[in-house]
Amino acid sequence: MQHLEISLKRQEAKRCEIFIGCGVREDLGTLIRNGLDCHPRRIGIISNKRVFGLYGPEILTALKGYNYEVFPWLMPEGERYKSFDVLERAVGFLGETSFERNDVVVALGGGVVGDLAGFAAAIYLRGIPLVQVPTTLLAQIDSSVGGKTAVNLPFGKNLVGAFHQPRVVVVDSQTLVTLPSRELVSGFCEMVKQSLISSRKLFARTTGFLMKANGRRDLLLAPEFEELIALHCSFKGSIVRNDEYESAKRADRRSRRVLNFGHTTAHALETITKYRRFRHGEAVGHGMLVAGEISKNLGLLNSAELESLREAVALCGPLPSAADLDVNEILNALQRDKKSVGGEINWVLLEKIGLPRIVEGKQIDRKLLRLSLREGLREARKTERYTH
Ligand code: NAD
Ligand code: GLY
Repeated sequence: MQHLEISLKRQEAKRCEIFIGCGVREDLGTLIRNGLDCHPRRIGIISNKRVFGLYGPEILTALKGYNYEVFPWLMPEGERYKSFDVLERAVGFLGETSFERNDVVVALGGGVVGDLAGFAAAIYLRGIPLVQVPTTLLAQIDSSVGGKTAVNLPFGKNLVGAFHQPRVVVVDSQTLVTLPSRELVSGFCEMVKQSLISSRKLFARTTGFLMKANGRRDLLLAPEFEELIALHCSFKGSIVRNDEYESAKRADRRSRRVLNFGHTTAHALETITKYRRFRHGEAVGHGMLVAGEISKNLGLLNSAELESLREAVALCGPLPSAADLDVNEILNALQRDKKSVGGEINWVLLEKIGLPRIVEGKQIDRKLLRLSLREGLREARKTERYTH
């Protein structure tokens, strides 16, 4: 089992412990008891029907014998339920069950469950302890670490939320065995994203694994993959430790904003297709190709590095096509990017693998942007990995 600890700079007393291992969900009771500095009486498991159907009974068994009263609460499945309405029902459940300040919310599921349950824990009684048990690859390497929680508004994703660090994160790689193929591809894209902005070493480890795995699900259970997840969590933790609240004033290569590599175009693609065509990571896959083209066209990134980026995205698996989308519509959606500051988009680009650079939108002329979008979104290379 891998064990990481993230101490947040401004709050040395506050730390988040991350446990990563194949089958580690069976130790959840002990990990909660040892990882919290309080003694909860009640545990609220927020999940959805699918995930709770797969893993709920084992989680209930893992929590037996610790004197916890355990209350499962299931939200409907899907991004559209990451809403104010469902949030209100979730905090209503905590209130009706008389949860107190020391009681705990356990988020069991992917990023949708994690974000909503995390927000409920952030605002109920002005904050109660949160434990994340992420069950998608995207959630295991990204959304469960770092403390961002949110719900969507009808006109935009993640527009209302809070920073609320989980006390404990329990990452069980075995749960990935039941994950649908597209969710795996989506998680691999986020892995490639994280490795591209991190270091050549993490990029080589990540692409090396993807080449070797080549569609073999059994390798998701290998110690090598457990270590890879730990390296990704550790990288994300290092960024969060330095810039917990994603300061708008920072634009250096270790500011939290670099985690948005590929996301500017990804959000535009998701918006214009009304969140129906792409899983989030798949849109990020396309977004990285576009960011790579912009970087090359600005003279920041050389052709060999761009080729490595393209190969890495192709290794993740097939992406739904974006080649038919209207470039003007994408450009309009880009203008409405919620991460813009003073009306200006900030692009996360690459100088080299492992070396991101934040560039203001006004430094990129529209012709270059148009060309990069066309080149980046042309028919992606096809691979047949992880289809069954
Ligand atoms: P998701 O939560 O929608 O999960 C994908 C699907 O897989 C769902 O249908 C889910 O029920 C199912 N599922 C989950 N685990 C499973 C398992 N082990 N076996 C079988 N099915 C399983 O999608 P996601 O990609 O995990 O998360 C996307 C969300 O995460 C978005 O809302 C995004 O905004 C958010 N996000 C948050 C952060 C953050 O820092 N907080 C970062 C990135 C993304
Ligand atoms: N997923 C981006 C962040 O956590 O900042």
